Amino acid sequence: MAENGTRPVVGVVAESRPGERRVAMVPKLVGRLAQRGLRVLLEPGAGAGAQLADEAYVEAGAEVGDAWSADVVLKVAPPTPDEVAKLKPGTVLIGFLDPRGNPAGVEALEKAGVKAFAVEAVPRISRAQAMDALSSQSSVAGYRAVLLAAEKLPRFFPMLTTAAGTVPPAKVLVLGAGVAGLQALATAKRLGAQTTGYDVRPEVGEQVRSLGAKFLDLGIEAVGEGGYARELTEQERTEQQRRLTEAITRFDVVVTTALVPGRKAPTLVTVDAVKGMPAGGVVVDLAGETGGNCELSKPGEDVVAFDVTISAPLNLPAGMPGHASELYARNVTELLELLVTAEGELALDFSDEVVAGACVAGREGSAS
Ligand code: NAI
Repeated sequence: MAENGTRPVVGVVAESRPGERRVAMVPKLVGRLAQRGLRVLLEPGAGAGAQLADEAYVEAGAEVGDAWSADVVLKVAPPTPDEVAKLKPGTVLIGFLDPRGNPAGVEALEKAGVKAFAVEAVPRISRAQAMDALSSQSSVAGYRAVLLAAEKLPRFFPMLTTAAGTVPPAKVLVLGAGVAGLQALATAKRLGAQTTGYDVRPEVGEQVRSLGAKFLDLGIEAVGEGGYARELTEQERTEQQRRLTEAITRFDVVVTTALVPGRKAPTLVTVDAVKGMPAGGVVVDLAGETGGNCELSKPGEDVVAFDVTISAPLNLPAGMPGHASELYARNVTELLELLVTAEGELALDFSDEVVAGACVAGREGSAS
């Protein structure tokens, strides 16, 4: 381990994005970083949005100070231009950096000489599962989406037999059965709804059924690279929309989570589908940030059309910052540990496919 005082410093900074309440490190994991020979420096109030007081970090062994000047800076949201200016050349930055959606941001990091690691770019191989922040945060989003739908639906989710009569269970359809979709199905089931899942990747049928849900088979398969869905052809898209429009009218709640990496989100819920839903129905669209899965979605807003509420919330994980931060901090810790030698020195080994895959800027001219 490096001498005290020369140990690499890991900065935990406060998030500035409006509504962002998560923090990239939690007190629970500070000791683990210290054991790897790292000093943790906290920007005052960095954990406040997640109800994590500075004192809790200090008790765990962190110091409070200028976290932006650290050797490694841990973040949740991509840094703003002002924040990039605070990073010294050579800083290792770990966070959601949106390399596909915001190439200019990555370019700015490159220009600033920052060695930037985007958690979205961590290869989704089994060895890197514990670093998979897309999955940990999608789970939170899927769970929250269903709670939101339950809150907006003017009816119960579970079947209830009461002295005042019997209430049938709500029918919930989840479109896109990736990480968020499967969590949404599990959550809706726990609330007592009758659940159905749909995806263009046929292999998820088994996973959907294992959660006690039916699998809606529309006969359209679209498996692309790396286990992700591919974009549908024009003809497939028309056929999918036609069949889905008919199916959706049978559901009280539709939660949509369908994404295709690097593309606009597919349109799955048409105006006609919304029109056909029962009055009081709810659509929660998790794809709002990339164009939405419902034709009527307005990102960040609730729209009411044909007596149906269409909600396209942005950044759902920030609404549950406690566990979202804890899971994210675990992902980040695992990734950071890959960048530190047993002696507690920072060393970027680009022969490791996870290190190479996650690095989106600052690779050129790297000493290691
Ligand atoms: P995602 O967030 O990219 O997309 C969500 C879902 O939407 C996917 O299931 C996708 O098939 C579906 N979808 C896309 N277009 C559609 C359309 N037109 N109609 C209906 N559904 C559509 O997916 P996520 O959750 O990131 O998972 C993607 C892949 O990554 C999966 O194969 C998953 O098993 C894999 N994965 C691997 C992990 C690992 O090994 N570390 C961890 C998590 C996921």
